[in-house]
Amino acid sequence: MEKTPSLREAGGDALIRGVHASFHLASGLEAALTAAAAAAGLDPNAFAPDVKAADPKHGDFQANGVLGYAKQGKLNPRAVADRLVAALPPEVLSHCDVAIAGPGFINFTLKPAALHAWLAAYSTHDALARGAAAAHTGQTWVIDYSSPNTAKQMHVGHLRSAVIGEALCRLLAFTGATVIRDNHLGDWGTQFGKLIYGYKRWADPAALAADPIEELERIYKLAHAATPDDSPALEEARRELVKLQAGDPENLALWRSFTEVSLRAFEEIYVRLGIRFDHNLGESFYNDKVDQVYRELTAEGLAQESAGALVVFHPEHPRFKTQPFIIRKADGASNYASTDLATALYRAEHFKADGIVVLTDVRQGDHFEQLFLTVRKWFAATGRREPALHHVTFGAVTGEDGKALKTRDGGTIKLKALLDEAVDRAYTLVSEKNPELPEAERREIARTVGIASVQYADLSQNRSSNYVFSWDRMLALDGNTAPYLLYAVARIHSIFRRAGLTPSEPAFEAGAGAPETPAEITLARKLVKFPDAIRLAGDNLRPHFLGLYLYELAGDYSSFNSADKVLVDEPTVRARRLQLCARTLLVLETGLHLLGLRTLQRM
Ligand code: ARG
Repeated sequence: MEKTPSLREAGGDALIRGVHASFHLASGLEAALTAAAAAAGLDPNAFAPDVKAADPKHGDFQANGVLGYAKQGKLNPRAVADRLVAALPPEVLSHCDVAIAGPGFINFTLKPAALHAWLAAYSTHDALARGAAAAHTGQTWVIDYSSPNTAKQMHVGHLRSAVIGEALCRLLAFTGATVIRDNHLGDWGTQFGKLIYGYKRWADPAALAADPIEELERIYKLAHAATPDDSPALEEARRELVKLQAGDPENLALWRSFTEVSLRAFEEIYVRLGIRFDHNLGESFYNDKVDQVYRELTAEGLAQESAGALVVFHPEHPRFKTQPFIIRKADGASNYASTDLATALYRAEHFKADGIVVLTDVRQGDHFEQLFLTVRKWFAATGRREPALHHVTFGAVTGEDGKALKTRDGGTIKLKALLDEAVDRAYTLVSEKNPELPEAERREIARTVGIASVQYADLSQNRSSNYVFSWDRMLALDGNTAPYLLYAVARIHSIFRRAGLTPSEPAFEAGAGAPETPAEITLARKLVKFPDAIRLAGDNLRPHFLGLYLYELAGDYSSFNSADKVLVDEPTVRARRLQLCARTLLVLETGLHLLGLRTLQRM
């Protein structure tokens, strides 16, 4: 992402003082290599160390930057690598085994003492958060997600934006950004003419009181059917819309009540998913802000009249040089493009956004490509600072047959019903596994596991792919699933319960030394890669990178748990292993919470 400052500055000096002081060890190593490059007489402008977490077979981190540097200067890459390694600060050499591999990669393997120092330094949620914060400190990000249309229920198609969006908010906040959660409701447009038209004829007060959104949907369907193209009824519906837009008190009050009941229904879903918006600035909010858009884009020569409409072309673009971005319709009305342009301006000026992320289905790709091209030119022409603009897209939710997910009779699946079913299914599972638990506790567990399973099934996949919805897969106790990860968390809690200890009170760690056995070392090496997983997920705006890391961590923990008994008598071994348990728990819980999941102490 353009606006993410390199952490080279952030972790570097600390590493030179000692590897363990750096949260993101790869950044610390980059700083050390940069210093070594200067000492070894490399051209500092041509050398970028490019350190990444490595395949554990080769080490913990690998520097890839030598190859490009050597190629550019027509040098022997291994000789360059030799010079660099010889110039590395002694602290790095005392903390890592360093090896040159292949054509000139530099591999770093942390020594157990360095692993231990990191584990000791990052022992609490706050310490992790402080370490992670360097990536986006001082930046403000507006995240536009969920953003459903009002007067309709949320259905399964609304799941991904909400779930992925919340995870991105948490990731960005954890990495130091001020995050503004903005629910950009679709609360304006021609459909409200029809809805008001229908409401005035067919609204059933009892049904409205019982389930208002259901009733509004029924009314809308009736009204839509009753207002075919060119019919007098459609004219009547249009007049209702014009009245609404002119501020007619009756229609305005009706429209407000639609938004209110919609928000109330959405809120129930958001609470279940752990989402809280800072703003619900829907399309209607930008109603009085579109004139400025027309004015400025026309004045800057970016927009032009075409068949009565106001449009923007992008001559440099293969498609958009002929495919117009219509920013005002021929009848003078605003549209999705006008409000989104006004929205971008508001976010830049009012929220002083450094970054803007909008989540929608991939089918809106053209709209956002045209929008961002237009915003960039507009802001450049008017001397405004341009925030980083990201359209975060995702594929469809499909059934196992690859087709759009529907109810048995072909209807859309309501999100509320889907979450209910997840909890019901989880309840059946929990009751099978733990029939001895009191019912209330089983219900509580089912609520967490059911919702988490739906969230994680989505988050564990690359968001660009279609998401195949499968109850059996998402609720499975093994594989990269929420139940597996939640179970790993609960299992670690149970060790502490058995030992009569509290994982967050670290007295039991006193006297813990560096990891010794192969399983301890493997687990510790995985733990110190948590910052890389956060970085990868945050920089790419792809939460599945964090999910995959947590899944692998749970696997390494499980191997450690089978190889090495934790609650042994020998006090230093016990302290050392309890420390690894506590840190695995901390990282798993922190990571799962970053993804938006709730966790359990008992399952
Ligand atoms: N309401 C739109 C929809 O349901 C999504 C809005 C996304 N945000 C935006 N600024 N366009 O498809």
